[in-house]
Amino acid sequence: MFKFRKKDKLQLPLDVPKHIGIIMDGNGRWAKKRMQPRVFGHKAGMEALQGVTIAAKNLGVQVLTVYAFSTENWSRPEKEVKFIMNLPVEFYERYVPELHRNNVKIQMIGDVSRLPEATYESLRKAETLTKLNTGLILNFALNYGGRAEITQAVRAISQDVLDARLNPGDISEEMIGDYLETNRLPRLLRDPDLIIRTSGELRLSNFLPWQSAYSELYFTNIMWPDFDEAALKEAILEYSRRQRRFGGV
Ligand code: FPP
Repeated sequence: MFKFRKKDKLQLPLDVPKHIGIIMDGNGRWAKKRMQPRVFGHKAGMEALQGVTIAAKNLGVQVLTVYAFSTENWSRPEKEVKFIMNLPVEFYERYVPELHRNNVKIQMIGDVSRLPEATYESLRKAETLTKLNTGLILNFALNYGGRAEITQAVRAISQDVLDARLNPGDISEEMIGDYLETNRLPRLLRDPDLIIRTSGELRLSNFLPWQSAYSELYFTNIMWPDFDEAALKEAILEYSRRQRRFGGV
């Protein structure tokens, strides 16, 4: 999709990434700066996510994968974990209806079997309600860890080899992709074209390690609760300026 923005001096065609991954970081620091408890930042983060999802949909993005809770996040104070686990319940009641009206389809990746019942139920209801929607896919990575995902894929592949359903020689990169949790996404949309991390941290923290092999990375100092449509457009503009060569010339 191409869009010219008159105020951009370069008159760049805006090359909108089909799949954007977001590491939503900085909620705690954002809250602390406002003399508020960390959980206040998570609440504001959920509000930011709603705005960014609708902005992304309006720009023509097809998949948004958001890192909402990593397998490492369980080590946070119990109260904070409990609060984060309750966010999907509020999300379902307050935000999902608007997303549904916007034709957004909600999905999840990660080991959701370990989530508290109410958390899992809210997300499952959101998935069921929106499963026939044809617009942007909002893909929640919850209790997700990239190495765990690859480990589970290796186990499943080994089992298929042991059961003689698969020859080791037939294992290809594409096939490995079929064993990863992103296999629920349309084949051409599984890998993020662009990964955004907010709050100034310069790492991927176990987020989509296989799928990000060729992703453009964009880091901003903006804290996640402040990340809005303008910030998203800035990230996409920067992406448009980069020429992706996938190892070619
Ligand atoms: C990282 O900031 C953020 C999280 C671990 C939680 C992110 C969750 C949301 C934005 C809400 C998602 C919505 C649903 C429905 C699940 P941090 O706490 O690490 O911030 P810090 O680095 O400043 O401490």
